[in-house]
Amino acid sequence: MKAAKTLGQFIIEKQTDFPYAKGELSRLLCDLGIAAKNVNREVNKAGLANIIGDAGSVNIQGEGQKKLDIYANEQFLAALQCGGECCILVSEENDDYIYIDSELSKNAKYIVAIDPLDGSSNIDVNVSVGTIFSIFRRKSVNGRATITDVLQKGVDQVAAGYIIYGSSTMLVYTTGKGVNGFTLDPSIGEFCLSHPDMKIPVDGNIYSINEGYYRHFPEGIKKYIKYCQEEDVKTQRPYTLRYTGSMVADLHRSLIKGGIFIYPISAQAPKGKLRLVYECNPMAFIVEQAGGEASNGYSRIMELAVEEMHQRSAIIIGSTNMVLKAEELLQKY
Ligand code: AHG
Ligand code: MN
Ligand code: MN
Repeated sequence: MKAAKTLGQFIIEKQTDFPYAKGELSRLLCDLGIAAKNVNREVNKAGLANIIGDAGSVNIQGEGQKKLDIYANEQFLAALQCGGECCILVSEENDDYIYIDSELSKNAKYIVAIDPLDGSSNIDVNVSVGTIFSIFRRKSVNGRATITDVLQKGVDQVAAGYIIYGSSTMLVYTTGKGVNGFTLDPSIGEFCLSHPDMKIPVDGNIYSINEGYYRHFPEGIKKYIKYCQEEDVKTQRPYTLRYTGSMVADLHRSLIKGGIFIYPISAQAPKGKLRLVYECNPMAFIVEQAGGEASNGYSRIMELAVEEMHQRSAIIIGSTNMVLKAEELLQKY
């Protein structure tokens, strides 16, 4: 039987896609893979390890932090500190960006933005959670990287990925040359290539949105929801609704089966809820690389200007034809 290719082997093999690569991005991706394994171990035994529940603190966006939010954040920070390839970490769980000040990282070229634990309200109830990451190259050449290095558009990402801690644990990433998925084999403790060259279907029949907030949505989004619910044999409507409360889980399903995920602006969240830098942009990069689309309803997510590192955005993302239809209705009404 042929042994499955590990994440480390795959990353090194793909380094030749970038003729001038010196292996730094490859090492950075491996560091993130190691942190993911540590987080996976804790997520798996959450009920046993006294690690479920609230930490009693609140992050910059006013959201209560879970113990695992903090643990995951610490694991990724520690992996980046040890690895030496990242100069700044931007995290959902930290008000300000963090300089990685170590002898090893003094020439580091990369900036990592991260949602260490996505869907954390699901931890206590054994529903899938995730991690999302985005990687940039610093623009400044000398001295310490600055806020200008941090506030780069999605189109400037050099890599992005997510980890889903689900019925199995997977790491999915792109460096702008397609999307590849790796499943953690717990018996050897390695992510192994299981989903090469992932492509999202152009059409789908699953929509994913928190319909509980229907009253507060823009008119065009209400019209799109009604469109999803209408009978039409040709387009396989009515569509099925699936919404877990973990964006990573909902988008992972959409990537594999086709579908659309929407988190619109609403009366309660006038700028949207999800964060542009470490939720929307990395997911947009992955979905576009898999052949799908990501927009805020009017513009491509990855071209939006980034003014603030915890900036929020509306997002409509997934199978191309579904996103185009939602955009059409949003813009019409
Ligand atoms: P996080 O746990 O990182 O704060 O993210 C939760 C996000 C996203 O994963 C999910 O799709 C959405 O918030 C759910 O929000 P609602 O409960 O408002 O639908
Ligand atoms: Mn999140
Ligand atoms: Mn989070």
